[in-house]
Amino acid sequence: QTKLYHEQYRPQVHFSPQEKWTNDPNGMVYYKGNYHLFFQYYPKATVWGPMHWGHAVSKDMIHWKQLPIALYPDKLGYIFSGSVVVDEKNTSGLGTKDHPAMVAIFTHHDPVGEKNGTVNYQNESLAYSLDEGKTWTKYKSNPVLKNPGIKDFRDPKVFWYAPGKKWLMSLAVKDRIAFYSSPNLKNWKKESEFGQMIGAHGGVWECPDLMPLKLNGKDYWVLLVSINPGGTNGGSATQYFVGQFDGSKFTPVSTKTKWIDFGPDDYAGVTWGNTGNRKVFLGWMGNWLYANQVPTVKWRNAMTIPRELSLEELGSDVYLASNPVKELKNITAKTIKLNAKDLANGNNIFSVIKQNLGQYRLKFKTDQLANYSIVLGNESGEKLIIGFDKKNNHYYLNRTNAGRNDFSKIFTGVAYAPRIDITPSSDLELIVDQSSIEFFADGGLSNLTGVFFPKKPYTRLSILSNGMELKDVEITPLKSIW
Ligand code: FRU
Repeated sequence: QTKLYHEQYRPQVHFSPQEKWTNDPNGMVYYKGNYHLFFQYYPKATVWGPMHWGHAVSKDMIHWKQLPIALYPDKLGYIFSGSVVVDEKNTSGLGTKDHPAMVAIFTHHDPVGEKNGTVNYQNESLAYSLDEGKTWTKYKSNPVLKNPGIKDFRDPKVFWYAPGKKWLMSLAVKDRIAFYSSPNLKNWKKESEFGQMIGAHGGVWECPDLMPLKLNGKDYWVLLVSINPGGTNGGSATQYFVGQFDGSKFTPVSTKTKWIDFGPDDYAGVTWGNTGNRKVFLGWMGNWLYANQVPTVKWRNAMTIPRELSLEELGSDVYLASNPVKELKNITAKTIKLNAKDLANGNNIFSVIKQNLGQYRLKFKTDQLANYSIVLGNESGEKLIIGFDKKNNHYYLNRTNAGRNDFSKIFTGVAYAPRIDITPSSDLELIVDQSSIEFFADGGLSNLTGVFFPKKPYTRLSILSNGMELKDVEITPLKSIW
């Protein structure tokens, strides 16, 4: 009998539900010392089904405690993705000034309407909590934003726009993002629409998130938009736009399509609300191409490591960088430095450090840009390769032979991330867990996240750099969060 949270493939440094199915992170908000994470949840099976909002809390976004289910489906439908705000000024009247309500704004998805071929089966609704998220009541006059007759009308992400003293909602509408505003979370007015002639359009747009971020004292706005299918490496992925927002309309600074993560398994990610200037992103480590089939038994799917967002100027354009949050230090064991001799000839780093690690952080820097690869493997010959290809100026994640792939025809293959940085030196950071790898290159500009399922745990780790000098190579064991 395998202990809970220690089953085969169970993430040890990432959030996953104790059991059953999850997809998107929802309602992420910081309130009274707790980071809340709600998540698309089906408590009856390990496949997608009638959606609920599961709930977990954390003091540091690393260690999680799962709480009872927050929202159950009702006669208006399943509870699809959305956000939570703290209504400090009691604009909604759902709380009091002294005791503000936490208000969830989510999509009610009516499966009957969908089946009957109607188009307006997705509408936006409210629920509120007066006990810091423990229990939730649905608002009596739901829905608050009615579908105007468009099939895909979902995933409201709401924040308080202080300059305009109003709430702002980003909503995914087919393959556009619509912005709505409200004085009280109950009455919504359409402000504008974004997405024509820009970005990737190989599928529907989902899970938007609009946020301000500063770069060298200058204000920008970043809009995250998930797309499925039509992601950069197939299936699901999240693009972003950097621009300006005037309280009504979003105007991008460049027309280039950019991706927050090029890997196959980082989807539907958004940021925590109520964290001040700090913006922390969490994604779902899954891809709709095969998320319902990955070979875990007790639960299915997990979230990424939380990632701090920042902006970076390159040439005349502005990019979004994402990197593991500093709170990761809460689970780091002692860092071990590695020198050239330790790494020579593809030495197994686990033999050098005399321990096998199931979850760890690996970092290095280089001043040259030459081919290198990092290989994780086991005695059965299964291996996962991640590296840099100088000729094509891209990073890659190859899981063609990384382990089990019998569950899906489209799971294997190679994902590519173009190198975006224009400086000659490079740094990278890897977060490896039992069944996932997250690769952050060039300060988080070119990232690759992927899940993998070796038949036996990887017991080998080597770096092949063909003589290229690697600097500050270090490996840090990560302690299990469970
Ligand atoms: C994104 C998504 C959302 C929707 C939810 C349903 O992965 O399709 O658009 O609200 O999942 O579970």
